[in-house]
Parts: sequence; C-alpha cells; structure tokens
Amino acid sequence: MCNLATQFYLKMGQNSIYQGNISWQSPSNIALIKYWGKHGMQLPHNPSLSMTLSASSTKTTLYYKKKQRADKNIDLTFYFEGQASEVFEKRIASYLSSILKEFPFLCDFQLRIESSNTFPHSSGIASSASAFSAMALCIMGLKGIITGSINRDECYQQASYLARLGSGSAARSVYGGYTIWGEVKGMETYSDLYACPVQSDIHLEFQSFNDAILIVSGKNKKVGSSAGHALMEKNPFAQARYQQAMDHTIEMLKVLKSGNMNRFIEIVEQEALTLHGLMMSSEPGFILMKQETIDIMDRIRNFRETRQIPVAFTLDAGPNVHLLYPASSRKEVLRLINEELLHLCEKGRWIDDAIGNGPELFNE
Ligand code: PMV
Repeated sequence: MCNLATQFYLKMGQNSIYQGNISWQSPSNIALIKYWGKHGMQLPHNPSLSMTLSASSTKTTLYYKKKQRADKNIDLTFYFEGQASEVFEKRIASYLSSILKEFPFLCDFQLRIESSNTFPHSSGIASSASAFSAMALCIMGLKGIITGSINRDECYQQASYLARLGSGSAARSVYGGYTIWGEVKGMETYSDLYACPVQSDIHLEFQSFNDAILIVSGKNKKVGSSAGHALMEKNPFAQARYQQAMDHTIEMLKVLKSGNMNRFIEIVEQEALTLHGLMMSSEPGFILMKQETIDIMDRIRNFRETRQIPVAFTLDAGPNVHLLYPASSRKEVLRLINEELLHLCEKGRWIDDAIGNGPELFNE
C-alpha cells in the first residue's frame, strides 16, 4: 500500500487548493461471506468478509477548480470511458449532494470526474465496488489537499465510510488483502460504518490466492442489488441468515489464520449457494444463475473430489462463477479452465484475477 501522507504532500507540489486533479485506481473485491440485506443509511444486517482483487479495477480522476462565486450546489460533469454519461452524472451528483453535510467543500469547486474500468464492458462484473472506492479516495485526496495534512489511517477509514454510502460492498475495496465490513460479535475493531483489513495473521496458503472469473453472461442483471437487499426485509429466512453470516465470519477468521483449506471451501461455497437461495426464497423470488452456472459449479466440485485439488466456487449477484484456488494449484486449474469450463463461458471469456494490495494513488 502506498504511503499516503508522503504522496499527498508530493501532489501538493502540482496541485493548489484552487485547481488540480487527483487519481486513484481501485480494485473490485469478491465477498467470501456475503452482504445481503441492509437497513438505515447503507448499514449491513450482517458482517461480510472479502478478498480484494487486482486485475478488475476502476481508475478515476477527479479534476477540481475553485468556483468564482461560491454556492451550495454540486457542479459536476462525469465521463465514463471517455464519454460524457448523463446517467452516471445524475447518480454521482446525487451521491455527492447526499454527503455535502460531512464534506461541504465539494460545492466550492467545479468538479469533473473521469472514470474507466480495466475489465471489459458488459463482463457482468459489478463495477460499483471499485468505482465508489476510487471516487471516495479521490474525495479524501481533495480533502487532504485543502486541509494540507492527512492522517493515513483516518483517510482510509473515511474513504471506506464514504464508499459505503455509494455502494455497501465498495467499503471493502478501499483496502487490499482480506477485509471485513460490519460489526463482529466480541470484536471491537470491526464496524458497520466502514470496513477494516482483517486484523489477524493470514496463513501462507491464503496469502497468494487466485480468482478465475468465468463469464457466463455479460448482460445486466434482471434484479439489481438494491432491489435484492430490499427483498430481504420480508424474507422468512432473514434472521437465520444474519446469524449464519455472523457465525461464518467468526469461523472464517480462524480458518484464514490456521490455513484450514477444507473448511474454507465449505464455508465459501455455502455462502454462495445461500446468497442465491435467499434470492430464490424472496417474494417475488428470482433466479440469477444460468444453466452454465450450475454446470460450472458441478464441474468444479467434481474436479476437487477426483483430483484432490483445493478449488472452490463462489458467486456474486449474477450468473458468473468465481473459481478460487491457491497459487500452488495454478497449473492444474488452468488446464481445468481450458479443457472443461471455457466452452460454458460466453464467447470463452474469463478474467485471470488474484488477491491484490488495494487501491493505488497516481501522480500524473
Ligand atoms: O454493494 P452492493 O449493494 O452492490 O451489494 C453487493 C452484494 C453482493 O455483491 C451480492 C455480496 C457482497 O458482499 O459483495
């Protein structure tokens, strides 16, 4: 992770408090323990635990210029992958307006945000986590430039808080490695307001973990995550699920420390299937998996059982399958992907991703 304080001061050389730009590249993350169900201002009903990725990321640049005359409005233009985007602009402007109370300086500037993803368009990869994380870090960068100093830990914590208000899972993308968002019984460090890196040691086996993202469909989801979270309010299994997620989080912390691969696989797969079970048992119920999703999951389990190689699947809110495996099994897993799984992917597409170190600040 970069040394924030030093880098902000370096940037002060090029940027003034009147005009400048700040860029962050932030990765996406894959939840091992899923966040599904929220209340109040984007607060989770249960803790979630994720692995931050490295290849799938969003790069965002925030250009700022002091307004001639101050007013109380957000003045924003937004470009996505080089094109002006009214839809995103409206969503981001309303997000920035919603945080004005805590970040009033945002209406002192004309803002231009340029954002682009490293993963291909319509790959079905949720970009809100990486996008809101990168944007929140840019906003914290601007705050650092205006105030002239920034405390590294506070900066990340506030960025995670800010990212959460845009998209819950984005709170976790502010940090590299394994991250927890949400209060965990008996542990004071973890909070519903922001994410934190997992505090305990991580076993060597889990330090270099890979995620092959198998693209079953790049189409937009039929039910977005906001609508999905809302359906949890009346889901008859909600309370049992929140308890299960709490138990899984506490156990996963032990697993990551001890290196218990078998239990890791059991928990991760149960979490994925539970997430989709909750979708199916909502009212109305909905199905995001495709036939290929199920076929891929079956083949992953079969490969694990017959070859005794530790691989696990997980799913996000969509049909694509994340195949998680330790770096030590890469050769065999690449063969599995090429020989058995690629023909089930849309146009044979997959993303070769892995655990990453978290967001990076750019000096342009
Ligand atoms: O951050 P949201 O509101 O898009 O919710 C994401 C929820 C899941 O991706 C399904 C699970 C998770 O914890 O990332």
